[in-house]
Amino acid sequence: MAEKLWGGRFKKQLDNEFYLFQKSIQYDYKLAMYDIYHSMIHISALVYTKVLKVEEAHKLEMGLLAILKEVKAGKFKYDPLSEDIHTEIQNRLEKKYKSIALKMHSFRSRNDQIVFDEKYYCIHQGLDIERLLANVFVSLFELAEKYKDNFFVGYTHTRRAQVIKFSNYILSFGRMLERDLKHLEYYCKNTEIFLGSGALAGSFIKKEDYDKAIKVFIKKYSQDFPFKISLTRNSLDNVSSRDFIVEFLSILAILQTHLSRLAEDFILYSTKEFNYLGLPEEFCTGSSHMPHKKNPDFLELVRGYTGRIHANLFAVLTIMKGLPLTYNRDMQLDKEPLFSTVEIVKSELSILARFLRGIKINTRQVDLALEDESLYATELAEHLVGKGLPFKTAHEVIGKLIRYSEEKNVKLTDIVDEILKEFSPHLNKNEIKKIFSPAFAVQTKRSVQ
Ligand code: ARG
Repeated sequence: MAEKLWGGRFKKQLDNEFYLFQKSIQYDYKLAMYDIYHSMIHISALVYTKVLKVEEAHKLEMGLLAILKEVKAGKFKYDPLSEDIHTEIQNRLEKKYKSIALKMHSFRSRNDQIVFDEKYYCIHQGLDIERLLANVFVSLFELAEKYKDNFFVGYTHTRRAQVIKFSNYILSFGRMLERDLKHLEYYCKNTEIFLGSGALAGSFIKKEDYDKAIKVFIKKYSQDFPFKISLTRNSLDNVSSRDFIVEFLSILAILQTHLSRLAEDFILYSTKEFNYLGLPEEFCTGSSHMPHKKNPDFLELVRGYTGRIHANLFAVLTIMKGLPLTYNRDMQLDKEPLFSTVEIVKSELSILARFLRGIKINTRQVDLALEDESLYATELAEHLVGKGLPFKTAHEVIGKLIRYSEEKNVKLTDIVDEILKEFSPHLNKNEIKKIFSPAFAVQTKRSVQ
């Protein structure tokens, strides 16, 4: 059991098993950087409040910067028996600057620190995810550009529906991700980070002193981040709300749903049965038993992780439901779902950008599918509308014609004019042949040109 931030009122030692059960350093060490930032602002506010001398604050700042350097270099080593990240950093500073460090926790509480750390984490990670999404866009556009003249089979109900352009198909995922990007941008710009809530009731430090400390911090360390850091407006709400986590996890759960749909489409379209798309080998694996296999593992894992990412959102919602105000220890459990979602989504997007560059269309197979006459039935009905028939009547006429072709086992383009006339005087073989082409079908869709 490492040195704790509390204990004066306790006579008995904590039960060891309980201590291990309740500590969080094994996952909240990931908040080290943000916790250091909180301390930096705090010590400078303590100088304005005259709790710390300038030289003392300088020493603590040097100590914090040394830890920050380790964190940024990926070399941060924490004591696995520390209770949490706040305790770890406090203990590290106490070892170096004993009496000065003892003053650092004046007028603040871990309840205030943790919400600051987590918000900072969410915004920081949100900005990273925005960058990763931008790379995926580039890959989607490149793929659309590469196959800009290709047609594709459009489905509804997993049944062949109408001819579409491949670029239109692939960029539909771009549109979904664009909405996710907008949600993230809004989130990162508008989530406010607060200071000065204390444990729940606020802090002795004056607003002006916090304001000065925040200004110095932003100038020195975070000018690149569009953060809004200010003094708390309602300290009770600040220490007890985790909406910003629920909101962030919701945005990422929607994003994950989009990734999962892309994954499912690509799994399906790369089966031998469809065989429209070829997947890049570097992202597939084989079977230990069946030598011919090339499995779409990346896509399957993306689809599978959707379960985890949706569950993470529900975990936090459920933890928060019915919690009495203000801070409760239950809230410590919001971190693992949050980190899990962020880490999974970041890996997925990073791989997806490269995965998309290796996608190939099997044009021969797609062209074969595009010969399916049923794909043009809607265009044929619309052709009759052009001749003055009400759409419902045209729909009925073409439906009957298709039934006839199925019953007689004859292609629509092979039905002779005398028979066609029985269905509608506006139908003839030459016209049907003209309509039954991907270029014609797509070109009639004026809304998507
Ligand atoms: N580890 C705690 C958490 O993540 C930090 C806040 C602890 N506050 C407390 N009063 N025990 O929620």
